[in-house]
Amino acid sequence: MAPDPAVPLAGTDDALAGVVIVAAGSGRRMAGDDGLPVDKVFLPLLGKPLLAHTVAAFEECPAVSDIVLVLGEHNMEKGRDLAAREAWSKLTHICLGGERRQDSVKAGLDRLSGCGWVMVHDGARPCVTPELVEAGLACARETGAAVPVVPLSDTVKRLDGDGSIVETPPRSELWAVQTPQVFRADLLRSAYAAGLDNATDDASLVERMGYRVSAFAGSPENLKVTTQIDMLIAEAILSGRAAASAHAARSRA
Ligand code: C5P
Repeated sequence: MAPDPAVPLAGTDDALAGVVIVAAGSGRRMAGDDGLPVDKVFLPLLGKPLLAHTVAAFEECPAVSDIVLVLGEHNMEKGRDLAAREAWSKLTHICLGGERRQDSVKAGLDRLSGCGWVMVHDGARPCVTPELVEAGLACARETGAAVPVVPLSDTVKRLDGDGSIVETPPRSELWAVQTPQVFRADLLRSAYAAGLDNATDDASLVERMGYRVSAFAGSPENLKVTTQIDMLIAEAILSGRAAASAHAARSRA
């Protein structure tokens, strides 16, 4: 029977929220100087691997009880070493991802148990904040599913196979979707169990099952690091925040 998004599933705790952080991608879109793929989630960012910043935001968020980290064969050892160094108290599992992002999410979901709410977050978004996570959870509690969105600054066009423009959808109706995406646990599990294909995000599977997904305000700072330029932007954002909190601490002293 299809889950009712308003009713918690027996055996799960409605107060608990777990997150699956997917970081098993091959980094094909970020080539290094030698032209080979670069594993962006382990690039150094302010003295730590990028992924350490991502996980820290969930570790610091009081609403999150469990963290499952999904890695690839190529970065499993580095991930285990990082987890040992950082000693994250909420990290319950590190598991192996799959070929597609949705395979990696499914692998992580299978390790997360007991939580009434699940979030899925891209490991490659290191500037996520505990506040954004809390906002997502609050929104999902209303409808069962919520995703962060930001307005588009560019106009978007649909092209045909020859590179000719066939459509210009109205920009006011289009939004860029980020993570963390937040769901009642049984809702997301049933969407994944349906075995639908070609999902670049998790909400699209839930949408295709006919459930309502709400949007909440994401942040332009919550960028997905995809290219070298994104690394520079992420560094500027995180160092700006560090400087602001150091300044606030000095003012309090
Ligand atoms: O490829 P994309 O930009 O959609 O990746 C988003 C996130 O999903 C990244 O953090 C990446 O490591 C992760 N991913 C994964 N398993 C895959 C593909 C992507 O965990 N097979």
